[in-house]
Amino acid sequence: MLFRALKTSLTLLAAAAVMTGGIMTASPPVAADETASSIVRGAKLYDKWYKVVGQKKPTKSHAAYPTDKKYAKDPGSNWRCKECHGWDYKGTDGAYKTGSHSTGIKGINGMAGADTAKIVAVLKDKTHDLNGKLGEDDFQDLAMFVSKGQVDSSKYIDAKKNIIGGNAEKGAAYYNTVCSNCHEKDGAKPKEMGKSLGSQMGNPWEVMHKIVNGQPDEKMPALREFGMQPVLDIMAHIATLPKKKLK
Ligand code: HEC
Ligand code: HEC
Repeated sequence: MLFRALKTSLTLLAAAAVMTGGIMTASPPVAADETASSIVRGAKLYDKWYKVVGQKKPTKSHAAYPTDKKYAKDPGSNWRCKECHGWDYKGTDGAYKTGSHSTGIKGINGMAGADTAKIVAVLKDKTHDLNGKLGEDDFQDLAMFVSKGQVDSSKYIDAKKNIIGGNAEKGAAYYNTVCSNCHEKDGAKPKEMGKSLGSQMGNPWEVMHKIVNGQPDEKMPALREFGMQPVLDIMAHIATLPKKKLK
């Protein structure tokens, strides 16, 4: 209440300053209900939480990760939400149904739209074992992403991994003005990616998650608030870039 009253008086003050031609000294009011930054941070935690919170990667494997699966001896991988629940958020019903990342674990899509308190309770349960590893803000941001931030990729990526409704020509203009500063026009930088952006399109769900939400602990922007169209256009363009290994 106090905050709202303060905000109102600030707005009035600013309006008065404009009307009288005075100099505005009050900073513009910040929208208290902005949630996009929490969702985007939650999505980056989903990608690699220990990187986002500045911790070293875990050294002991996650107890909920099946011991007979490929990443059982790789705690840096098997503690990532995406490793058990997938880049398409559908777990065993999605792209991770088969292949080297399959675990048989369900997705998080069933909790899209759920009450964030319920999601936080799941994240704090014994299975997830995250108590003491993450703080309240982290749990809150993760829950915001799970509840309000999941993109239903089946609308945008077809069975052959083609992008539905992407305009590669528009995407080239976006990419060459927004992304190429860091990634070069041919998508071959930074080398740390291991393979060029063109090759990354073998996993379009991961690419989509990264473009919508950004990259953990990097200055890469999140395009979420611009809507899906530019994301699809950029992905259609990236699909045309050279596919090569880096390093
Ligand atoms: C090592 C594997 C593993 C990791 C890592 C993991 N989870 Fe889970 N998660 C599970 C399992 C197992 C379940 C329970 C599934 C079941 O009920 O069969 C689950 C359930 C969930 C559910 C409830 C889904 C539903 O519809 O009931 C949510 C939400 C969830 N996890 C989010 C996360 C988030 C966010 C992270 C990262 C902070 C994460 N999980 C990391 C294994 C994992
Ligand atoms: C400020 C620099 C910067 C900008 C701008 C930027 N990125 Fe990135 N991006 C990075 C860095 C750094 C990485 C992490 C590379 C690594 O270490 O794997 C990354 C990773 C990625 C990845 C994941 C690759 C992987 O293997 O993890 C994708 C996909 C990607 N960027 C696409 C884009 C697109 C598309 C744009 C434009 C909308 C963009 N980036 C803009 C710096 C940037």
